[in-house]
Amino acid sequence: MPAALECLDVDKRYPDGSRVVHAVRGVSVAIEEGSLTVIRGPSGCGKTTLLSLFGGMIAPTSGEIRVLGRSIVHLRDRHRAALRRDEVGFVFQELALVPEMTVEENLWLPLVPVGGPTKDDEARLDERLSRVGLTAQKQTLAKKLSGGERQRVAILRALVLDPPILLLDEPTAHLDADTTRELLAWLDGDLRTLTKDARRTIVIATHDPRVLEHPGVDRTLSMTEGRIEEGSS
Ligand SMILES: Nc1ncnc2c1ncn2[C@@H]1O[C@H](COP(=O)(O)OP(=O)(O)O)[C@@H](O)[C@H]1O
Ligand SMILES: [Mg+2]
Repeated sequence: MPAALECLDVDKRYPDGSRVVHAVRGVSVAIEEGSLTVIRGPSGCGKTTLLSLFGGMIAPTSGEIRVLGRSIVHLRDRHRAALRRDEVGFVFQELALVPEMTVEENLWLPLVPVGGPTKDDEARLDERLSRVGLTAQKQTLAKKLSGGERQRVAILRALVLDPPILLLDEPTAHLDADTTRELLAWLDGDLRTLTKDARRTIVIATHDPRVLEHPGVDRTLSMTEGRIEEGSS
């Protein structure tokens, strides 16, 4: 199976006043297409930084990163934007739904640069909303949703343009045990059949041990102080 995401000896240092934070240290890892991978580790170990590198949000200080076999390290801004639009869906930790917009308006945001939704887009979105049980909330303001509903909308929005790769940063933060279980079952089950691309690659960064217990997880990687190793120890 080819790798959807690859890091080769990647380093990321953030300048921070007079010192430098070495957030990712010599990471080499390949993530198989179609797999559900969890990157675990304590707060501050570099998970968000690694996801942001994979998603092309930030550039590495050194090393090589490939998405679907293509190097993204020296992409120009225009191509970096295209990568984020077409290949990698990213669900941020802070969700970033617009609270004063309805569910529907939030979901259309990725389509604004291309002139808004077509009739086909609308039909597809309606179908997906119904698959995740959110039809009744279509006109609800995002700020009125529960945590679990908000998380589903954020994930649906990341999927509006059908990217083959989905990166989720701490998707179960603020969710109770039942909602967490539901969300994971949905991610692993319905999500993969929600679109034609049943081989979507999913990477979840989390410090939540409940995520590791989910039976659909294919692989766990652990980060400690910017380094990565196989397994959940
Ligand atoms: N933009 C930034 N500027 C300076 N330091 C940062 C920045 N982003 C993250 N860091 C630091 O890099 C380290 C890794 O952070 P992060 O990737 O957010 O870890 P995690 O997601 O595992 O909590 C931490 O020490 C954090 O404080
Ligand atoms: Mg983080």
